[in-house]
Amino acid sequence: MSIKNDLILRTLRGEQTERTPVWMMRQAGRYLPQYMVLREKYGFFERCQTPALATEITLQPVDIVGVDAAILFSDILVVPQAMGLEVQLIESKGPVLPDPIKTLNDLQRVTVPDVNDRLHYVFDAIRMIKQELDGRVPLIGFAGAPWTLLCYMVQGKGSKTFDEAKAFCYTQPETAHRLLQMITDTTIAYLKGQVKAGADIIQIFDSWGGLLSPADFETYSLQYIRQIVAALKDEVPTIIFAKGAWFAIEEMAATGAHGLGIDWCIKPKLARQFAGPDVTLQGNFDPAKLSAPIPVIRQEVKTMLEAFGGHRHIANLGHGILPNIPVDHARAFVDAVKEYS
Ligand code: CP3
Repeated sequence: MSIKNDLILRTLRGEQTERTPVWMMRQAGRYLPQYMVLREKYGFFERCQTPALATEITLQPVDIVGVDAAILFSDILVVPQAMGLEVQLIESKGPVLPDPIKTLNDLQRVTVPDVNDRLHYVFDAIRMIKQELDGRVPLIGFAGAPWTLLCYMVQGKGSKTFDEAKAFCYTQPETAHRLLQMITDTTIAYLKGQVKAGADIIQIFDSWGGLLSPADFETYSLQYIRQIVAALKDEVPTIIFAKGAWFAIEEMAATGAHGLGIDWCIKPKLARQFAGPDVTLQGNFDPAKLSAPIPVIRQEVKTMLEAFGGHRHIANLGHGILPNIPVDHARAFVDAVKEYS
């Protein structure tokens, strides 16, 4: 089926487009009252595992804020779950994995699963979403980067520093690399399954990549991301978002990924210098700035668009949208991109 609004696809291929495309990370979520209605009625993983619910939530931001892409409603933690770990999502506390990986012995509790068995509900959801979208905008599929998934699988919960995950890597590097390779193998099969089901673009979320030093980022994160990109990039446009990892933009561009997500802590011009001309940059509005008055949002969007220079740029936030953002502020962000670019 052909896609009517293919701005993002063309931008990822490096073509000059009529305007800059726009979407928002975590665009399907708690700032939308329509999401909160479904959140009252169903548990988080029930929403992920029921294709009709995942479809409805995925389409909400397309209908309500007018973004140029849909992103599958799911979570990066469905992969550790499919590999055998229990994952809970606890209100106001975030994700909790009650039996995290701490030693080599714990690796016996995880497997590289058959994704068609353990994650078939994601593929079912993608097929339903594609049908429902009817070619309006492309669908972005995604997975967590192996390093970010290891953070949760070892630390067992969210953290500002992921110190226990780091200690695991630095004291038991062989075990860490075995786990990272298992996650990588699962992720490659999972993302290929998403593409087969109909995902038009793939994004890899390395939310905690920026916690590592440049050398450790190469060792514990990028060498695995590189394997994933290599397995996918000839099949589907692929975007790497490694929050805080501005120091590795040059190396990430060299993976052959079509796009790189950047956060608001780096100037777009500097990111472009590091990235070179052959990759699309995505970002980089401070998500907290969507709390500013609408005229300020509009002015800052204009400044951002000018800094990226109107070519090979997908407008986005530098991280996920926050739950307290008014819907009309999110819409103002999207509208300002459409207007000023
Ligand atoms: O972008 C989208 O709208 C698609 C859906 C999506 C979710 N999570 C839904 C979700 C995506 C792409 C993710 C990715 C994800 N999940 C990441 C990487 C991106 C990032 O933000 O850094 C990470 C680190 C997670 C792990 C995770 N899931 C956390 C830390 C939390 C709790 C904190 C939070 O932000 O809510 C979740 C839960 C989660 N995933 C929610 C949603 C809509 C909130 C669930 C709810 O309370 O209703």
